[in-house]
Amino acid sequence: MCGIVGFIGNVDAKEILLKGLEKLEYRGYDSAGIAVQTGEGVKVFKEKGRIADLRAIVDAGVVANTGIGHTRWATHGEPSRENAHPHQSTTERFTLVHNGVIENYLQLKREYLVDVSFNSETDTEIIVQLIEKWVNDGLSVEDAFRKTLTLLHGSYALALLDRENDETIFVAKNKSPLLVGLGDTFNVVASDALAMLQVTDQFVELMDKEVVIVTKDSIQIQKLDGEVVERAPFTAELDASDIEKGTYPHYMLKEIDEQPVVMRKIIQAYQDDAGELTIDPEIVATLNMSDRIYIIAAGTSYHAGLVGKEFIEKMAKVPVEVHVASEFAYNTPLLSENPLFIFISQSGETADSRACLVHVKELGHPALTITNVPGSTLSREADFTLLLHAGPEIAVASTKAYTAQLGVLSILAFVTGKARGLDIEIDLVQELGIIANAMEVLCDDKEEVEYIAREYLSVTRNAFFIGRGLDYYVGLEGALKLKEISYIQAEGFAGGELKHGTIALIENGTPVIALATQPKVNLNLRGNVKEVVARGAHACIISMKGLEDEDDRVVLPEVNEVLTPLISVVPLQLLAYYAALHRGCDVDKPRNLAKSVTVE
Ligand code: F6R
Repeated sequence: MCGIVGFIGNVDAKEILLKGLEKLEYRGYDSAGIAVQTGEGVKVFKEKGRIADLRAIVDAGVVANTGIGHTRWATHGEPSRENAHPHQSTTERFTLVHNGVIENYLQLKREYLVDVSFNSETDTEIIVQLIEKWVNDGLSVEDAFRKTLTLLHGSYALALLDRENDETIFVAKNKSPLLVGLGDTFNVVASDALAMLQVTDQFVELMDKEVVIVTKDSIQIQKLDGEVVERAPFTAELDASDIEKGTYPHYMLKEIDEQPVVMRKIIQAYQDDAGELTIDPEIVATLNMSDRIYIIAAGTSYHAGLVGKEFIEKMAKVPVEVHVASEFAYNTPLLSENPLFIFISQSGETADSRACLVHVKELGHPALTITNVPGSTLSREADFTLLLHAGPEIAVASTKAYTAQLGVLSILAFVTGKARGLDIEIDLVQELGIIANAMEVLCDDKEEVEYIAREYLSVTRNAFFIGRGLDYYVGLEGALKLKEISYIQAEGFAGGELKHGTIALIENGTPVIALATQPKVNLNLRGNVKEVVARGAHACIISMKGLEDEDDRVVLPEVNEVLTPLISVVPLQLLAYYAALHRGCDVDKPRNLAKSVTVE
């Protein structure tokens, strides 16, 4: 989703801004721009399309030590050069980049800016015009900035340049992530630390409704009323090589291959000195006191939540409901007396989930966030956090974060079950070790999956994924992976449900990918496959050792029945990857999608 960078220092800012924007490309965007302070005012370069298109129009002759940049994922107004950021006020004195959504922008426009002619359809432009209006009315820039912020309803991360003051970047944030980074002779602004790791690993976190006055030698954080806030920097624990593709053609493939290593890291991270799995006792106690768990998440994380429900209900014997975040906040179901909320989010920034968390905290209920990003909004605002230890996930299509979510959820369920004195027969450390090995086997031998992708998915317009029990949930994830990166219309179904309507869509050659890893329903599922094959479907069965039939196309190594989703998803991730590749799609940056969805 949208990204912000800013630099103020003694060296040319252009390349640092462009490189920073390149690091944010993975989040998804449709246009990009930078603005730099020059001796002759602020120069804006912006373009629809990729950063490479922007690079091509940036005037190499312009030298500037201060600038801001932006990648835009359209919300208000189509993707276009006009709607791309930065936006300028009428006199071009002020230049602004903005992440987030201003809900009352039309109202503000009507109330204060009727005489202003606008260049874009964005909500952002009203912010920069308002600042200019208050300055024209006699306010100082700082006061005008602050006054504007008090009028905004919604989410924002902002960086502002003033043509008359090339020694300052004005920054503010509410509900959208934003960091200030520190250097010896410069300072930076970034919506994601990854963007500015090129120059610093020292960052200062900003809280909602804070303003920061950034110069090359100092940063001053203030509350909206002007009160100064002191905050120590933190070191971003990121390895720059984690965010490089290395020898891989795509981040997605690299991240699929990283899954065995991530699984082993998770085992280690959640083991105590005696080698026992352990979770913060406060979390376990809170879970034990709750009469029902509500898992809230979106997309792939929601699919992980569905599997997590099975883990928790089976191992810890606490009832669990799983809800789609965008529905829950505004359509809250009847809650139990002592609920615990678990937010699952790779990025920790998903606005739909955050809206639920705010609501849940207002109701006074405890919340745990399971996330890949320490210090993310959902992590900061929940009572507890469990980390995924998956390393940065750059490809838009989530892969290693999903299996990491399942790994952590299984440990949470196991440790809680043990703490409740339940008789859990499995040795989870050993079982997760077996999972890691099985993942490795699947990642080492991709040929058959590539072949299946070519045979089943090169030209089709649709595909179905079926399974029963846990396999159904994995099928949902397989379908989501396929549609988001290959644009094939794909749906996941419970095997037994097809005959209640959807089977009408089966035609000669319709690909049906069937998962058969659950002993209890293996024969039922195979019966469902027969039903679709009888109607012309081209079926591909992925089963598990011990349950396989002769014609099954992929036979997964044998793992514990409850944990099968951790490995059965791997061929589905690869299937989506190769299908996208064969169809010439941009695997890592699928159209219309953003990595971190920071608008509701
Ligand atoms: C799909 C995908 C999305 C995310 C969803 C939630 O591959 O990545 O469906 O899972 O946008 O994002 P997080 O997990 O960051 O809250």
